Amino acid sequence: MMHKRKKVAVIGAGFVGSTAAHWAAQKELGDVVLLDINEGAAKGKALDLFEASPVELFDSRVIGTANYADIEGADVVILTAGLPRKPGMSRDDLLSTNAKIVKECCLGIKKYAPNSVVIVVSNPLDAMAFVAKETLGFPPNRIIGMAGVLDGARMRSFIAEELNVSVKDVNAFVLGGHGDTMVPMPRHCSVGGVPLTEMLSAEKIEAINTRTRNGGAEIVGLLKTGSAYYAPSASAVQMTEAILKDQNRILPCAAFLQGEYGVKGLFIGVLCRLNGNGMDKVIELKLNETERKGLDHSIKAVQELVDALKKLEF
Ligand code: LAC
Repeated sequence: MMHKRKKVAVIGAGFVGSTAAHWAAQKELGDVVLLDINEGAAKGKALDLFEASPVELFDSRVIGTANYADIEGADVVILTAGLPRKPGMSRDDLLSTNAKIVKECCLGIKKYAPNSVVIVVSNPLDAMAFVAKETLGFPPNRIIGMAGVLDGARMRSFIAEELNVSVKDVNAFVLGGHGDTMVPMPRHCSVGGVPLTEMLSAEKIEAINTRTRNGGAEIVGLLKTGSAYYAPSASAVQMTEAILKDQNRILPCAAFLQGEYGVKGLFIGVLCRLNGNGMDKVIELKLNETERKGLDHSIKAVQELVDALKKLEF
């Protein structure tokens, strides 16, 4: 009997896209199609990655293309296309340029991978997920923004470093938009099962929250020519794996809210259950006053961005 491998399409062969292809292929999540309008870059990086497979011993066919027909039947599409920010820019400064790019890509995805789950990575994330939803017309469970896994991973790294413990034993997440208003959730963080608030002083926790919020900008400031890609791509691939393997993972993602937290029709970072359905369920938490205020502030920022988006012609 023939068994069909899963298929992961990665749109955009820049640093995030090509690194996502790398993680996905190496984890043997399925065959990988790397698509970019720069055909040479897509083909060259895909071929190079495929040629690493006999050394690293992974059975994933990797191809590069500029043709959307090649993503036909993809189970998951990781959408990374768009410009990265430069030092001094906020993610929001990318709004109009990336809205056009994301729309263009989504038209191709809609035509050739109409049953896929689309993971949006392009910035400004929460607004680009909205553009994807408008263009694709997919049900909300099949469009998910990647932000919380990344921001949570940054927070986990900083906590592990501060306490000199394994990153494996640190659980942490953030809620809200993928921007300066994101809401780290220290009350829900734990280290080996022990609440973080019992392990670190309020002052140290606040320093970690701040560094987490500025995590993307910290990398942009160092790189100067682009933004982060190892952690963003790893995060998108963790979400991909949860979907392809029907894992029921609980991960923070930008989900299209339909009344949760009192929000309707916006993508906001919340805890989700990810499985074969994509974003299967939003897990709504009871927030304390500070958390609720932080989340409301973040929701307002996302709403303003989406309002600005609606005024643009893209
Ligand atoms: C970051 C970009 C990818 O947070 O948004 O690094």
